[in-house]
Amino acid sequence: MQHLIDLDDFNVDFWNGIIKLAIKIEKNPSKYYDTAKGKVMSTLFYEPSTRTQMSFQTAMQLLGGRIIGFDNPSTTSVAKGESFTDTIKVVSGYSDILVIRNPLEGSAKAAAAYSECPVINAGDGGHLHPTQTLTDLVTLSKEKGTLENMTIGLCGDLKNGRTVHSLIKAMCRFKGNKFVLISTPELAVPTYIKDYMHANNCEFEEVSSLVEAIPKLDVLYMTRIQKERFKSEEEYLSQKDVYVLDKEKMANAKHDMIVLHPLPRVDEITREVDDDHRAVYFKQAQYGVYARMALILTLLDNKKPFDLFKSKQNFVQKCTNEKCITTHETYLENYFTEQGDMLVCEYCEGRKLI
Ligand code: NCD
Repeated sequence: MQHLIDLDDFNVDFWNGIIKLAIKIEKNPSKYYDTAKGKVMSTLFYEPSTRTQMSFQTAMQLLGGRIIGFDNPSTTSVAKGESFTDTIKVVSGYSDILVIRNPLEGSAKAAAAYSECPVINAGDGGHLHPTQTLTDLVTLSKEKGTLENMTIGLCGDLKNGRTVHSLIKAMCRFKGNKFVLISTPELAVPTYIKDYMHANNCEFEEVSSLVEAIPKLDVLYMTRIQKERFKSEEEYLSQKDVYVLDKEKMANAKHDMIVLHPLPRVDEITREVDDDHRAVYFKQAQYGVYARMALILTLLDNKKPFDLFKSKQNFVQKCTNEKCITTHETYLENYFTEQGDMLVCEYCEGRKLI
């Protein structure tokens, strides 16, 4: 069976298949109404969610399947001290597909290692959010008509924004895309994402001014400052409201630039921008339903082999990332791949010197 932990585990043809199917479903949803009849999807949300959880639920309902799950682990046996992987083992036994969001990085991969059914990563801490990226790819395909040769600005919390990390990794794989990374130095993209761009020969620049960057962009991906990932309120307050997209800034953007945002928005886009024809973030949330319907259909009953871990070498080392699932669920086996003089954790992509 196959899991969706990181889009990078698949080739571009696989992604294109999902995008095409999502667009087909959008054109004629009723044709797909009974295609998951008798199937059960579980949604295990250990972190707040509106769109991701509800779009998954809507997707499964529209496909004729059923839903179980929780969005408040304190009302489940987690509160009695049940381990993460015991919960996964049991719930996956009740399900045909399991969707998980958890604050720890690498948690979806750990879930997949213990699951009886395909696992979908609906956000593992500040690490990745591949189903948001599928939503973004469907949005770009529909609204720009291409996934290539674009100058894509990403603005805001590029350090903690998991949607940013997954989107960069994906757009690097389509030819001719360039990135303009707009953030404060404190919230710049993590090193592993920069390494990824270098490895894929993807052009990027890091800048601090949205005003200066906006005229050259084909796509502007705004993001929320991820308050919940900061160590202190003070640190958060120093970053809050640095970037606000408003009418004045939009006036200097190309007439066909589009604005995406995974939502929720806090203050980083003023409400007046909502009426601009280039603001597509609410449409984007709608495309999320079709993207997830297509993903569910693709993974259900998929018997293809899948290598969860690239290297099963155990270096008897521990990951040093305090937000990694292996730091908290200490019974998990640690696996690393070697990259030069670094060991890369297979769960959270955290690095340490050998
Ligand atoms: C994003 C997330 O949870 O990472 N929301 C979403 O899933 N659409 C973005 C965010 O919370 O800022």
